[in-house]
This record gives sequence, structure tokens and C-alpha cells, in this order.
Amino acid sequence: MTEVERRAFADRAEFLGDPDFVKVPVKTLVSDNYLAQRMKDYLPNSAGSSTATKAGIIKESEETTHISIVDNEGNAVAVTTTLNGSYGSRTVVAGAGFILNNEMDDFSVKPGVPNMYGAVGNEKNAIAPHKRMLSSMTPTIVLKNNKPYLVVGTPGGTTIPTSVFQTIVNVIEFGMNAEDAVNKPKFHHQWLPDEVFVERNFDAKVKAQLESIGYKVTTRGAIGRTELIQISGKKIVAIGDKRGDDAAEGW
Ligand code: DON
Repeated sequence: MTEVERRAFADRAEFLGDPDFVKVPVKTLVSDNYLAQRMKDYLPNSAGSSTATKAGIIKESEETTHISIVDNEGNAVAVTTTLNGSYGSRTVVAGAGFILNNEMDDFSVKPGVPNMYGAVGNEKNAIAPHKRMLSSMTPTIVLKNNKPYLVVGTPGGTTIPTSVFQTIVNVIEFGMNAEDAVNKPKFHHQWLPDEVFVERNFDAKVKAQLESIGYKVTTRGAIGRTELIQISGKKIVAIGDKRGDDAAEGW
């Protein structure tokens, strides 16, 4: 109980204040996952230390967002925009109201050294003046008979092209409706690490089959938050991914 109190007070010092003035992450602080995480380093047979015990880490989400739009003239727009990591470079442009990104992480700092999303590269993606870093962002418009058919994109770092690819294949090759194409479990491989990452609700039988033929399969959190619009003549179906707080609206 002493060790629980130690950690609770470390969190109080870091996160708590009048909620009319500051955002207190109450939901996370009382969640089973967070509390289990907090007690992970608890050793029943030795006293903890307040120097070693810091406040818990409450993860801010990465800062990329996607929007898919279609208007009644048939124009379509797919936009993905990114700050890259949490709060980008954490620098607000005074008076302008936006935060600077930390996109430099999308360059390869050294051949073979992974960036924040585990992506590796070589000199071709090395930092140089006036050069643009590689991006995984994949805002996509699929045309059918030269007219927009699917408008799609997502955040998710290196899982972005995966989510877009699988969503499109789900519709075009597997004949899924738009909702299933977005929401059914996804899986991801990015060369390195040599693992297939699957979402928690990925089919257990398929996972076992993959393992039996030699794949390393690792369960992870959500893959993407895909926004899909499907246009079939006058019918427009818009899906906001259930993985996030996404929404679809029509006027
Ligand atoms: O351009 C890229 O590939 C990265 N900056 C995207 C980062 C991202 O999607 C983070 N959000 N989930």
C-alpha cells in the first residue's frame, strides 16, 4: 500500500490541478491498464525509492489527421496533414496559432537506424538542404471510369499505406461494403522489424496459420483511423473509422 501511495502522489504532483484550469487525465489515471502499468516495477520484498519513482507516462497520441471530402458537383479531396510526433516540435508559432512539426524524424538520420515509426532508410533519405523527407502519408482518390470512386486516407505513421492498401483491396477485390472495409481488423508488415503486426481482434485461426508457416505475429493496438468515401452514381457512403473518434457528415 505504501508503494501504491508513493506512485499516486508522484502522479498528483505531475497531473493534478483545478480541472477548471487544467486538463486532468482522470480517465487514464483510474484505468486498469494504466494502474497495472504503474505497479509493474513494484517489488514486494524491497522498499521503493521516491528518487527512482517518477510520475506515470500518459501517452499523447501522434499528431496526424486525415479528411476525405466529396461535394455535390463530384469534386473530391483527400488530405492528410501531420505534425509527426506528439505536439510536433512542441513549439507554437506566436500569434499564428499553430505548432511546428518534427518532420525531420522522417529523414534517415543514419543508414539502418529506425525512426520513430521503425522505418529504416539509407543516404537517399539523408538530410540535405532543400530536400524533402520521405512520408508514409497516402491521401488517395481511386477513379472508376475517370470519376472519383473511393476517397481514402488515414494517420498512423508507417501503417498509413498499409491501411489505405487494405481498405481499397477490401472493397475492390473482396467486395466488402465500405464500413467493413474500414473497420475489419488490419495487419501490417514493414520489412523491418520482420514481424506481422495484427490488431487485437484479428482472427485467431489465421494468426495460428501464419505462425505455423513461419511468420512472427505480434498483436498491437489500432492500425490507422481510416476515413473512406465510396461513390456509386448518386449514392455516397462515408465511413469514419470506429478505431478513433472519427465521424462522417453529409449536408
Ligand atoms: O509523414 C509521415 O509519414 C509521418 N509524419 C506520419 C506520422 C503519423 O501518421 C503519426 N500519426 N499517427
